[in-house]
Amino acid sequence: MSSTQVMVSRRHRIAIVARSARCVPVLLACVLALTGCGGGVHGTPGGSGVRDPYFPKAGNGGYDVRHYGLRLAYEPDAHRLTGTATLTARADEDLSAFNLDLLGLEVGEVTVGGRPARFNRAGQELTVRPRDDIRRGATFRVTVRYSGVPQTVTDPDGSQEGWLRTADGVLALGEPTGSMAWFPGNHHPSDKAAYDLTVTVPEGLRAVSNGELRGERTAGGRTTTEWHMGRPMASYLATLAIGRFEVDRSRTPAGLPVYTAVDPAEAEASGPVLRRLPEVLAWAERRFGPYPFSSTGAIVDRAPELGYALETQTRPVFPGAPDLTLLVHELAHQWYGDSVSPESWRDMWLNEGFATYAEWLWEEEHGGRSAQQTFDALYSGSYFTTEEEAEEVWAFPPAEPPDAARISDPAVYWRGAMVLQQVRRTVGDAAFGRILRGWAAAYHYGNAGTADFTAYVERQAPGKDLDPVWRDWLYGEGKPDGTP
Ligand code: TRP
Ligand code: ZN
Repeated sequence: MSSTQVMVSRRHRIAIVARSARCVPVLLACVLALTGCGGGVHGTPGGSGVRDPYFPKAGNGGYDVRHYGLRLAYEPDAHRLTGTATLTARADEDLSAFNLDLLGLEVGEVTVGGRPARFNRAGQELTVRPRDDIRRGATFRVTVRYSGVPQTVTDPDGSQEGWLRTADGVLALGEPTGSMAWFPGNHHPSDKAAYDLTVTVPEGLRAVSNGELRGERTAGGRTTTEWHMGRPMASYLATLAIGRFEVDRSRTPAGLPVYTAVDPAEAEASGPVLRRLPEVLAWAERRFGPYPFSSTGAIVDRAPELGYALETQTRPVFPGAPDLTLLVHELAHQWYGDSVSPESWRDMWLNEGFATYAEWLWEEEHGGRSAQQTFDALYSGSYFTTEEEAEEVWAFPPAEPPDAARISDPAVYWRGAMVLQQVRRTVGDAAFGRILRGWAAAYHYGNAGTADFTAYVERQAPGKDLDPVWRDWLYGEGKPDGTP
């Protein structure tokens, strides 16, 4: 969401009570050990979560997905999705069982290494018990055949994600947990993987996803499209848009393939902004370093109720024609969020603070307010029209949202960007420019958390006292007194 957009109802509902995600699997491991399952290797179950502080059931322990091969077919009239997901993964430990996250849908068959495996389901957890234990370090392949009518997921903050119906098709969005509504996987940003997606839809509709278009063929009234994402992608950044779209394919002056898909109703309003995509990317490359992916573009759908855009990898999704600031925001996420992804959902400010700061920097370098002026307006409250909005910036420290419902609150976006402005003032413009580029390079295609960031900045600015920035701006409760 950009600062120019109206914030949709991102208010908290229930605090998620963190529980020890491992206690159940450990118990199960003991039972399995007693019954002597699994022959030679005494593997244990991988665990039903990765102990994310906000989404304890998201992701799974014990393995690392390298590649998702998804073959999907969608019947819009029946709203029915039929899929085969083939995951190639590496075991981090000896495994007697492992979990995938999948919400709703019916699972017909699961195989591991080509052999049918037992499985059971409880909530979003799909537990798979292969015939034989999987040894630590082994690469294994699991296929899941599934079908059904996918669900829309409501976030803790009330936003909609997952599988969303539009007037002419569907839009699949996954931040933070909605991707489990349309394919089984290790749905936590800490496990990134490459993807190949093949989608079949009725002729006349298009299926648009991340990465490069690898093939498109129509036969028997159905169109099958293949998409390839060769760089690691967090599953929340996967998207699929099915509908009627005006497609435009071109190249940037640097030769990068551009693929934009725009709902016809949004085409006229989108044109002037999307035409500037190459210019925005060229600017971002100067500020943030080389663009991390092999293609770019945008998906502009018509989803007026959605209330947010999403930085889906290579091809951000907009719920309607974007303005230039929002395009800058979502493209900046390609470096901050997509290439360098959060270690956990607590690290959201590393995504949103940077993408918001990119808006400020764009404005500063294109004849508008300086980043410092934007900072000052936020600090004094003059940035907002109401006192209540102004106060929200100080509701909690950006590095520590109080609960899952508040990971996309103003304190994450604006105060997150204010942290970066305070870093800039402390280290100077030249060092700050190196930090923006260097941070994106140091963790490219990987994950990083807040402690990685503060340590990185300290290394780049020896002799500068950053403690007050971290203490007051990043971790401090309430509005800091004055500015360093
Ligand atoms: N990342 C989106 C953006 O800034 C906004 C968003 C949508 C979001 N869903 C979210 C942020 C869930 C945090 C959590 O464009
Ligand atoms: Zn954002």
